[in-house]
Amino acid sequence: MSRHSSQALTPLEAAGELAALAKEIAHHDILYHQSDAPQISDAAYDELRKRYRELCESFPHLVPEQDPEKKVGAAPAAGFGKVTHAVPMLSLGNAFTDEDVTDFVARIRRFLQLNAHEPIVMMAEPKIDGLSASLRYEQGRLVQGATRGNGAVGENITSNILTIKNIPHTLKAPFPDLLEIRGEIFLSRADFLRLNEQREADGEPLFANPRNAAAGSVRQLDSTITASRPLAFFAYAYGIISQIDFSSQQEFRKKLLAWGFDLNEPAKLCSNEVELLAYYHDIEEQRHTLPFDIDGVVYKVDRFDWQERLGFVSRAPRWATAHKFAAEKAITKLNAISIQVGRTGALTPVADLDPINVGGVMVSRATLHNEDEILRKDIRVGDEVVVQRAGDVIPQIVEVVLSKRPAESQPFSFPTHCPECGSLALREDGMAVRRCTGGLICPAQAVERLCHFVSRNAFNIEGLGEQRVRELWADKLIQTPADIFTLERHRETLATREGWGEKSTTKLLEAIEARRTISLDRFIYALGIRQVGEATAKILARHYKTYTAFRQAMESPSAAQDLTSIDQIGPLMAQDITAFFAEPHNLGVLDALARQLTIQVQPERAVASAVAGKTIVFTGALASMGRSEAKAKAECLGLTVAGSVSKKTDFVVIGGDAGSKAAKAEQLGVKVLTEAEWLDMIQSD
Ligand code: IVH
Repeated sequence: MSRHSSQALTPLEAAGELAALAKEIAHHDILYHQSDAPQISDAAYDELRKRYRELCESFPHLVPEQDPEKKVGAAPAAGFGKVTHAVPMLSLGNAFTDEDVTDFVARIRRFLQLNAHEPIVMMAEPKIDGLSASLRYEQGRLVQGATRGNGAVGENITSNILTIKNIPHTLKAPFPDLLEIRGEIFLSRADFLRLNEQREADGEPLFANPRNAAAGSVRQLDSTITASRPLAFFAYAYGIISQIDFSSQQEFRKKLLAWGFDLNEPAKLCSNEVELLAYYHDIEEQRHTLPFDIDGVVYKVDRFDWQERLGFVSRAPRWATAHKFAAEKAITKLNAISIQVGRTGALTPVADLDPINVGGVMVSRATLHNEDEILRKDIRVGDEVVVQRAGDVIPQIVEVVLSKRPAESQPFSFPTHCPECGSLALREDGMAVRRCTGGLICPAQAVERLCHFVSRNAFNIEGLGEQRVRELWADKLIQTPADIFTLERHRETLATREGWGEKSTTKLLEAIEARRTISLDRFIYALGIRQVGEATAKILARHYKTYTAFRQAMESPSAAQDLTSIDQIGPLMAQDITAFFAEPHNLGVLDALARQLTIQVQPERAVASAVAGKTIVFTGALASMGRSEAKAKAECLGLTVAGSVSKKTDFVVIGGDAGSKAAKAEQLGVKVLTEAEWLDMIQSD
């Protein structure tokens, strides 16, 4: 994005941009810290922060109320207990250029009023790209582990921390009575690759990078999952401490070793900027031979008395900074643009490149996102392009080297038909994505849909990962989901397949058998209908309760109307669902599948409602809502809605022109509610 220098902006423009940046940064903070699923590279995120800071400096009176600079990370996720850190866990300021480092040292010199000759000794350490944690030791025993959370309050992850092998459960003496150790939890690159291979084999979604894998593993509510991941920990700082007998970072590191912690190496004590920068460039070169991912180095003033005097500004210490590595770039030739078709039929353009080394990793493909992105950057086959790998994310094409464009080059024209099945590929109004309309007849979608079908939150068929689905599909043993449940017929063929054998065939067939009974919500989710994720599948299942009812409703001409009457289902989603059922091929597949299964009646949602389990009757016309809405609301609260009043009725709600039911209620002594009283009751619930 081209940006004006902050001086060139009017206050109005600056205020607008600041507000937009604050919002954007907050959005990415949540994706990164809470969802462990960043959508932009760290370098791009740092750019946003940098621009934000620049504008704040030029327009200090316009700093937004929700200032991301005053916040570290994102609020703790629900699910874990909360831990208030005895000493806040802060973040670090960033340096990107040599000049930034010079400024950092000069600021310290000024602050401490040191003369130009006095050396400022700093400890330089690798900056590990993981998840920071705080470990509390009382009398040398590990009693609590917490994530950083928002810096003040983190999540209690003690049981997960206890599974990390190189974290000592007891410290080697002598130790202070109370001690909080801070450091980074991470996965080595090799372990990350192994974990992803395993996930691929199991048909589970892959982690984008070691950091996400570590964060995802630590934030598991089930600590046996954490235990199965080879996490490790490096210690680099302390929080609260009851007595200190060291006076520098260097001495502190020795203590850490003596207590039993592993350190982030190679670290180096540097006496001046020249040494700091030499260290930085040295580590940058070694970066790809280190066993773990780093995203820069950290410089810390070595003397603790100086650290104390320097103190903190807003979210970061004045005595330390992170010197980040730049996103790595290289130039190569774009040989072709191929189109991949995903499970939902989305056509994604991918650049096929002359293989090139980008920061230690060979890159031969890069994502082009979508049609508009290619147009916007005017990327053409035959161009020389700048490829970027920002440490972690999938390689991207930054720009075209226009000076090298061949004279005969032509703009890329995006296909209008699916390259896999030849069906028309359509782009809906306002959407960036073009999609194949071939549904299950499209081989690309069929395999992807089958993978989705057997995945963990759908049918969860163990031993049927993507690799096997692909093999079985290619050999025509599984073409549609129903074929999975008749696979028994091919037992012999399976057992003689290379790499299978009796044992694993039996295991797989048993795993399939175990899933022949399935809940309605999982069943609906497994169908892979566009936009129908787990939450929507649950809503549909709760509404229709049985597969038969759902199926019938979807085939009725008023299906779309029926769907949009459900809370949280909008017209676009309804359109996707009805489109699925409008495809005769899909109906055939569904029928064949349903014949193989027992699809359970969806249980009522367990509600903690005071009126749950009671029986209610509506009579007369309600002013605020129709009868079906009233019924749905009541059912949502766990009430049973009956048609006539009896001794078993708990409440009768009287609308306008109520007839005999009201009288009957009085007669039986059943509680009668006006519409307003009923609304009151459901509101307070
Ligand atoms: S010191 C008060 N040292 O980077 C400063 N942090 O971007 C405490 N990190 O929150 C942090 N390696 O999670 C420090 N050698 C290192 C580090 C390190 C990685 C992380 C840490 C911090 C973040 C800031």
